Amino acid sequence: MTSRVLHRAGGAPPLATGGEGIYLHLADGTRIIDGSGGAAVACLGHGNPRIAEAVGRQAATMAYAHTGTFSSQPAEDLAHIVLDGEPGGLTHAYFCSSGSEGTEAALKLARQYFVEIGQSQRTHFIARRQSYHGNTLGALGAGGNMMRRALYEPLLAPAFSLVSPCFAYRFKRNDQTDQQYVDHLADELEAQFQMLGSESVIAFIAEPVVGATTGCVAALPGYFKRVREICDRHGALLILDEVMCGMGRTGTMHAWEQEGITPDLQVVAKGLGGGYQPIGGVLINGTIVDALNVGSGGFMHGHTYQAHPVACAAALEVQRIIRDDNLLDNVRAMGTRLESALIERFGNHHNVGDVRGRGLFWALEFVADRATKQVFDPKLKINERVKREALARGLAIYPMGGTIDGTRGDHVIVAPPYIATASDIDTIVDRLGAAVDAALAG
Ligand SMILES: Cc1ncc(COP(=O)(O)O)c(C=O)c1O
Repeated sequence: MTSRVLHRAGGAPPLATGGEGIYLHLADGTRIIDGSGGAAVACLGHGNPRIAEAVGRQAATMAYAHTGTFSSQPAEDLAHIVLDGEPGGLTHAYFCSSGSEGTEAALKLARQYFVEIGQSQRTHFIARRQSYHGNTLGALGAGGNMMRRALYEPLLAPAFSLVSPCFAYRFKRNDQTDQQYVDHLADELEAQFQMLGSESVIAFIAEPVVGATTGCVAALPGYFKRVREICDRHGALLILDEVMCGMGRTGTMHAWEQEGITPDLQVVAKGLGGGYQPIGGVLINGTIVDALNVGSGGFMHGHTYQAHPVACAAALEVQRIIRDDNLLDNVRAMGTRLESALIERFGNHHNVGDVRGRGLFWALEFVADRATKQVFDPKLKINERVKREALARGLAIYPMGGTIDGTRGDHVIVAPPYIATASDIDTIVDRLGAAVDAALAG
């Protein structure tokens, strides 16, 4: 039958019909290891009966009640489990249906906060090149994914400025120490605040570990401490986008825990609901909630499906399983195994320039020449080739081009589910190794 679905990559993708654990099943009977959980989404793998049961139960009990008038038990319980212990002073959650909606909400909440406290002159955001915060026009404008922005550039708001990412493999000069590179980036951010006017900036927004755009790039030690200091000095907020790297993916529930700082607003999504329902959210520092409470009393924003009870019930069960089964211990243990296996397999590979990541969130960056870090001709679409060869060997991974500037560079991401076993990790790396060799031989 002809497909009437407008597929994002065009063509006719294979039909995925089922899934169990780390496997996805295709209509032709093939079983594929979902080695990246899609885009680092399926953190508990597929077909989990506990989550399916929770979704069905909630759909049968009460699928929808408008959030302008009602709350729901799953939303209340989900906020409690995610904010248990008020991590980093985050006290409240706003739930929505995707990462992009989460970014939009964080940007608007940050703006409203300053209006509430009498600083309505703050109208600007600073973000980083080679970052991604979502595909809706506000979030796209905040992001620095040049490939995704290009077509829509004339529609993007002038409220966003971009500074350099902290991407040492590509942008730290050979004659710079790590400290000098961090100082240089901090100076650039400071200069941007000065240029815009210290009191005109609402927030700086960044991914603690940059995901799809550059491939699992963590900042150098001390970078986020400098960022936090600069934001504080200028009275601006720090928004961390943990849509991809958060909710346990890097081995701690929040990626910022490994940076020794806390955000004012944090965007979460993928690992929140593990793909069982579309859900995202913003975790909010108590000070911001207090300002709204003593001010206008509400958040001037909303979506029909925000805090959807069925989505919240799915995410609640996902988070309970992660907690009950101590899965972050497994993320750390299997993360260490994945790191060693990738380094052993690709550490000396002449076309793999960098193996990087944290927890169960790793990427390979491909180069034509390891010594000069010269990239492959983008027309070769090396990342797509590796994806294709991996799929042919029963492994799904997440590829991306434009690693350096939206045009040049290739990488692929592996992000196995938190339930992965040692033998799953070994199989993933074996298949990836064969796929990389085949893709580069072709
Ligand atoms: C860091 C980051 N922010 C935001 C988004 C947007 O999330 P969504 O695709 O759910 O709208 C993504 C999606 O890949 C992401 O990786």
